[in-house]
Amino acid sequence: MSAHESLLEVDKLSVHFQIARGGLPWSKKATLRAVDGVSFDVRRGETVGLVGESGCGKSTLARAIIGLAPVTSGSVQWKGRETVAADARRDTTQIRRDVQMIFQDPLASLDPRMTIEQIVAEPLKTHQPQLGREEMRVRVRTMLERVGLNNHHLRRYPHEFSGGQCQRVGIARALIGEPQLVICDEPVSALDVSIQAQIVNLLRDLQRELSLSLLFVAHDLAVVKAISQRVLVMYLGRVMEFGDKRDVYREPQHPYTRALLSAVPLPDPAAERAREHVLLRGEIPSPLKPPSGCAFRTRCPDAIDACAHERPVATSARIGHTQVACIRAAMT
Ligand SMILES: Nc1ncnc2c1ncn2[C@@H]1O[C@H](COP(=O)(O)OP(=O)(O)OP(=O)(O)O)[C@@H](O)[C@H]1O
Ligand SMILES: [Mg+2]
Repeated sequence: MSAHESLLEVDKLSVHFQIARGGLPWSKKATLRAVDGVSFDVRRGETVGLVGESGCGKSTLARAIIGLAPVTSGSVQWKGRETVAADARRDTTQIRRDVQMIFQDPLASLDPRMTIEQIVAEPLKTHQPQLGREEMRVRVRTMLERVGLNNHHLRRYPHEFSGGQCQRVGIARALIGEPQLVICDEPVSALDVSIQAQIVNLLRDLQRELSLSLLFVAHDLAVVKAISQRVLVMYLGRVMEFGDKRDVYREPQHPYTRALLSAVPLPDPAAERAREHVLLRGEIPSPLKPPSGCAFRTRCPDAIDACAHERPVATSARIGHTQVACIRAAMT
């Protein structure tokens, strides 16, 4: 197998919700484009950082990949097999086992009536019921130890734990069935800053040890920098830029990526004062009524008339290079 083998391939994926405009069931319906034609891939053993402002569709995209949000069109392939398209060839058994998710709110994602041991053992019961009780117990203990919890914690309930500890339980639950891809939906944004680094480091260590692939969702380009090999930038349900981390941070090509990056403070105060800041004008438009052409044009410092007429798709000048959805970037 080649080093660049894609485990997950997402192609022109859209998730559109029909919303009753007046808030009543018989009101006129409008289409909310939460995810709108997104394509990217995740390779074996790599981490892809998925970044964008609140409401740009990150969680919906993550949920759609594992079948928790309804797909309107497009395709998701896991190891070459279609998993979401509404046809007879769809096969979800493998992806359900191989792909796990860690959620944004650690406490809310754990069942309050179950002990930590029961919570962590649950995926084993579902996917590997042939394992005996003792074997399951040993695996749960080993996993809890690996994420920094111990035997005293086994019989306790989620509300007895701090946010950071709950997230460790969530990580143990996601990893116990030996998945190949873990989708981490803002796994640290509900935690104290001091705990955030611990959890990110834990995920990075586990990833290396277990040769995992990660899709790591965050608001902030600073959080994904340490952990990602490639970075995907989303805006209003669309991909703006997707490329190698070094290229995206060093030479961002999309004006939106430049704006997000200029919001990340530099460690050196002199460099921080000297550099140019790109400020975004106005608010994010509603996904019920995205601008014509480029979704970002209403806030873009570089927009020209043509941006209102043509919808740019993320493409790269050369194979393997950064993909950018900007007609101006394509001109230069
Ligand atoms: N089940 C649903 N029905 C209707 N609209 C939805 C549903 N789920 C999400 N949306 C809408 O889809 C858009 C994208 O939401 P999503 O939660 O995916 O964004 P996000 O990028 O994860 O945001 P955040 O960073 O705040 O978590 C939002 O406008 C949201 O209101
Ligand atoms: Mg979200």
